[in-house]
Amino acid sequence: MRDRTKIKAALAEFPSGTALQVAGWARSVRVGKEVTFIALNDGSCVASLQVVAGPELPNYAEICRIGTGTALVVRGRLAESPAAGQKYELQADCVEIAGLADETYPMQKKRHGFEYLRTVAHLRPRTNTFGAVFRVRSSLALAIHQFFAERGFLYVHTPIITANDCEGAGELFRVTTLDMAHPPLVEDEVDYNEDFFGQATGLTVSGQLEGELFALAFTDIYTFGPTFRAENSNTARHAAEFWMIEPEIAFADLMADAELAEEFFRYLCRYTLDNCREDLEFFNEHLDNGLIARIEKVAGTRFAVMEYTEAVNELKKAKAKFEFPVEWGLDLQSEHERYITEQVIGGPLFIINYPKEIKAFYMRMNDDNRTVAAMDLLVPKVGEIIGGSQREERLDLLTERMNEVGIDHTGLWWYMDTRRWGSCPHAGFGLGFERLLMYLTGMENIRDVIPFPRTPRHAEF
Ligand code: 4AD
Ligand code: MG
Repeated sequence: MRDRTKIKAALAEFPSGTALQVAGWARSVRVGKEVTFIALNDGSCVASLQVVAGPELPNYAEICRIGTGTALVVRGRLAESPAAGQKYELQADCVEIAGLADETYPMQKKRHGFEYLRTVAHLRPRTNTFGAVFRVRSSLALAIHQFFAERGFLYVHTPIITANDCEGAGELFRVTTLDMAHPPLVEDEVDYNEDFFGQATGLTVSGQLEGELFALAFTDIYTFGPTFRAENSNTARHAAEFWMIEPEIAFADLMADAELAEEFFRYLCRYTLDNCREDLEFFNEHLDNGLIARIEKVAGTRFAVMEYTEAVNELKKAKAKFEFPVEWGLDLQSEHERYITEQVIGGPLFIINYPKEIKAFYMRMNDDNRTVAAMDLLVPKVGEIIGGSQREERLDLLTERMNEVGIDHTGLWWYMDTRRWGSCPHAGFGLGFERLLMYLTGMENIRDVIPFPRTPRHAEF
């Protein structure tokens, strides 16, 4: 098994006539009069390798009965293929059946809807679309590390179990070992003193606060890890478990932050164009005909910047009917964000300087005392893809803000300490990895760019 050749390599790297061994799963089996054709796919590329099996094979009768989904190990010789659309086929000398699949296999050769495929998420990686999605996902994870490594950023692993709710939205999943049927009580409230950590803890909604601590030691850092939010919004863009990339840079203001975000985003577009071409072409052909052109354009243009106040004015002028109200001081909803990026700008843009009331406590107060140094990057089709800000580095103002929004100081003493000693201007942002993948693949539901999605009432697989 060791000298197995990946199908991607078999199709690209060897001269005709080469003898090799491949292994994979049958995507289709066509039993003809003279020979049987098996489209074999091992996940290494979109293309399947056409295996040609003839009656001289000792187990030919058995081969004729295999179904879609069967696992096979095949030895044979590469030959120029007479069929259109493929360079080679493999003339089989030996077809070993590793694991049979019969006609009850849930992904017979026909087009299945994405909704159906979610119900067979354990098998959907064996389809063309999900093969392409997860190859792009894997490549981009590497691209992200490469981008930061090239720029001297430190990669830091921030905790997954935490006692702080960074975004202050109360969306923490509880982590506990208490017996929830009979929890210890003090004055009718659950006594988390008795819990595993001696305090109430949950799954992190963001690694930012700990990331900031590291930025104030290593200057430029990033996190890249799983993030959890118990928000009960059943949309195509929200997952309860998703991955986020959070860089944090010291001695930097909001504009430096936006510049980094733009460079990063464009780098990832360019990387995908250069390194995931085949998969992109697949998406472009089958899912979204404007995809490659859109990514090309973004990879090569500067992003617009618009003040929140200006965005509100644009929305008020708009002829479009919105479901949610538009008023200075209200948060922008997805429909508003998409209107501005798609209709007003026609490309990615940063919206900056939001009213303090709709943003988290840690954002830096602007001189107007009404807005904070926040930025969201909005892109067509997805809406908000990045959220970031310059952080409040002044202890007095930070304390004031925490009091205003009712954040308990005791749990965040360490965060406040960094404003006591060696505080400096710093900024950062979070890029939702799945939203990035939606943007780069044209997939329209977040459930279809993460291997096993966690959303309200769904934690199967
Ligand atoms: O805007 P958010 O909430 O910002 C933060 O968490 C900051 N702590 C980031 C920072 O400054 N270091 O989230 C950042 C991004 C969003 O723009 C979005 O792309 C993604 O994370 N995101 C989600 N993705 C999928 N499902 C969800 N429920 C998401 N919530 C946020
Ligand atoms: Mg946000």
